Amino acid sequence: MTAKSPRKMLVTSALPYANGSLHLGHLLEQVQTDIWVRFQKSRGHHCLYVCADDAHGTAIMLTAEKLGISAEQQIENIKEEHERDSAGFLIGFDNFHTTHSEENRFWCETVYQCLKDNDHIALRTITQAFDPEKQLFLSDRFIKGICPRCKTADQYGDNCEACGATYSPMELLNPVSAISGAKPIEKESKHFFFKLPEFEAMLKQWLASDTLQSQVANKLKEWTEVGLQEWDISRDAPYFGFEIPGEPDKFFYVWLDAPIGYIASFQNYCDRTGHDFDAYWQLGTDTELYHFIGKDIINFHGLFWPAMLQSSGLRTPTALYAHGFLTVNGTKMSKSRGTFIKASTYLKHLDAEYLRYYFAAKLSASIDDIDLNLEDFVQRVNSDVVGKVVNIASRCAGFLRKQFDNRLSDHCSEEDLVKSFIAKGDAIADLYEQREFNKAIREIIALADQANQYIDEKKPWSLAKKSGTEEQVHEVCSVGINLFRVLMTYLKPVLPAMADKSEAFLNCSLNWTDLKAPLSGHLLSTFEPLITRIDVKQVEAMIEDSKESQAAEASTTVATGKTKAPSEAINFDDFAKIDLRIAEIVAAEHVEGADKLLRLTLSLSEDGEPSGNRQVLAGIKSAYQPDELVGKLTVMVANLAPRKMRFGVSEGMVLAAGPGEKELFLLEPHTGAKPGMQVK
Ligand code: MSP
Ligand code: ZN
Repeated sequence: MTAKSPRKMLVTSALPYANGSLHLGHLLEQVQTDIWVRFQKSRGHHCLYVCADDAHGTAIMLTAEKLGISAEQQIENIKEEHERDSAGFLIGFDNFHTTHSEENRFWCETVYQCLKDNDHIALRTITQAFDPEKQLFLSDRFIKGICPRCKTADQYGDNCEACGATYSPMELLNPVSAISGAKPIEKESKHFFFKLPEFEAMLKQWLASDTLQSQVANKLKEWTEVGLQEWDISRDAPYFGFEIPGEPDKFFYVWLDAPIGYIASFQNYCDRTGHDFDAYWQLGTDTELYHFIGKDIINFHGLFWPAMLQSSGLRTPTALYAHGFLTVNGTKMSKSRGTFIKASTYLKHLDAEYLRYYFAAKLSASIDDIDLNLEDFVQRVNSDVVGKVVNIASRCAGFLRKQFDNRLSDHCSEEDLVKSFIAKGDAIADLYEQREFNKAIREIIALADQANQYIDEKKPWSLAKKSGTEEQVHEVCSVGINLFRVLMTYLKPVLPAMADKSEAFLNCSLNWTDLKAPLSGHLLSTFEPLITRIDVKQVEAMIEDSKESQAAEASTTVATGKTKAPSEAINFDDFAKIDLRIAEIVAAEHVEGADKLLRLTLSLSEDGEPSGNRQVLAGIKSAYQPDELVGKLTVMVANLAPRKMRFGVSEGMVLAAGPGEKELFLLEPHTGAKPGMQVK
């Protein structure tokens, strides 16, 4: 059972963008990685798990600008939030760093110098779209316009979602900058390119090895077949990133420095702990390197990254492990349905281990998408974890405490049964190793069924009522606890907190490598509940809350003085449909349980002519106490269809202006505006 000799492994998850909150999709990846790492550790291997925030790029720069803070402040805030959310899901990073760090700058410069020395960098002048207002080069996704082929409006700069045409952004009809709304001009600029075609032979060999899942290798082969292209690795100022040494106003493209962030995070770990760094990145090392990633980023990890490593004289990954995308209730996560669930929203309502278990029960080594079906989620967690696994311990613990001072019997009457559970360990370990977590869970739950069946047959509750059967009750319950111990050892990578509590109860640590024989004559601690059932109401509340946090962002439309991005532009007819009116706030109150909402009663009545009150749930609690609001005027969207929210129906939307938080401004009564007045 003990592994031959401990392996030395370095494992990563993809670096989340420091541009927004973590959602359950990110967590699918982190949970998958974390289970695998915890599994390796419990098998006695030396396994380190590092990650970081991906902190660079135009999008982060623009987000910070919109929030009125520096990019550095933005990435610092987000890093704190990301670390808190991951910790909430019991993700056991050995190190979580950032790509905006000195370690990363050092490694980017080092790698770049190697690429340059090896003549793998080309310099060319290219023509690109440029926003004359923002003085910024525009990548394809920051340009929108009318598709030149089918004439559908509002299409991105590289392809049309309606007809599938691909084109260059300057071919769009009426192109506009999605940032400022200005018409882009063409401008020339010098760019640095990584000569990927020179790695064709190496990459073909890499794709033919079994470093990659076959689905991934096949996808990437399509790239090599059409011919590899040089990769543009530089961006012009203004850009939030690292300046290229000796090239003022030229920056490394975020996707160049992001994977190097894996090295940088590990460097930071080694500097902090004195751990050996070199053994993990040099060529020919016997250490192993694994990257867990989503299927959307396989080209960066499966083509550019190994080529960069090779040119830099560094080792390439042992394997890339790609996973599919998370859907909720069968479809893409949706903000309006409340299924775009942020990690922090989930944690407000539900225990992290429920989701860890559910993900484990669904994850496999393939890149197929994974569906979180919320009904199935409740049913499955309650039935498997609570109804089957915990049930074994809770059924036996009471008798052991009441009648046997929490001590297991000196002799295990079912040594063979316990040993048959232990004997399954290697097969289950293989499934974990192969990332076939769903199959591992199936095996473990089949054992739990067998354990429950054993207890059902022996009926300790009936035996306990008879006389002279005391010994038997003791034996049966001791067997049950021994079976539970084996199962919790197998589940420990998935359910670390429940495993901690079980260790406290069992008075022993749960290590795969320690499973050899049943415990006998062993003293237990008093059993405490390990986990409770999910109540459907908790899930409903989470969905409503996800709608609410959307609504708080949406039910008060906050004008920040910035031009609205044309990506969401509407035409005049759309605008004409909006009935904007001045309304008086006649009542305002807190909404119990809501963090951001106030319940407003708005009157549209004019000169005492009541034209009906409206109830609106508005996300302006950060800026106003209810009493301050009464008597104030606001502009409201009067013809918005009523929406049912968790805290009631909202019959409109109020408009406010300001940077947000404490500064959200409504109209003051002395503006001369009258309730009911139409605004446009
Ligand atoms: N910053 C890059 C990764 C750089 S790695 C050197 C990035 N960031 S991301 O925040 O968009 O995504 C981080 C990881 O989460 C990626 O592996 C991505 O595939 C994964 N997921 C993002 N949304 C997801 C789902 N809905 N479902 C599953 N995984 C998802 O890409
Ligand atoms: Zn089209």
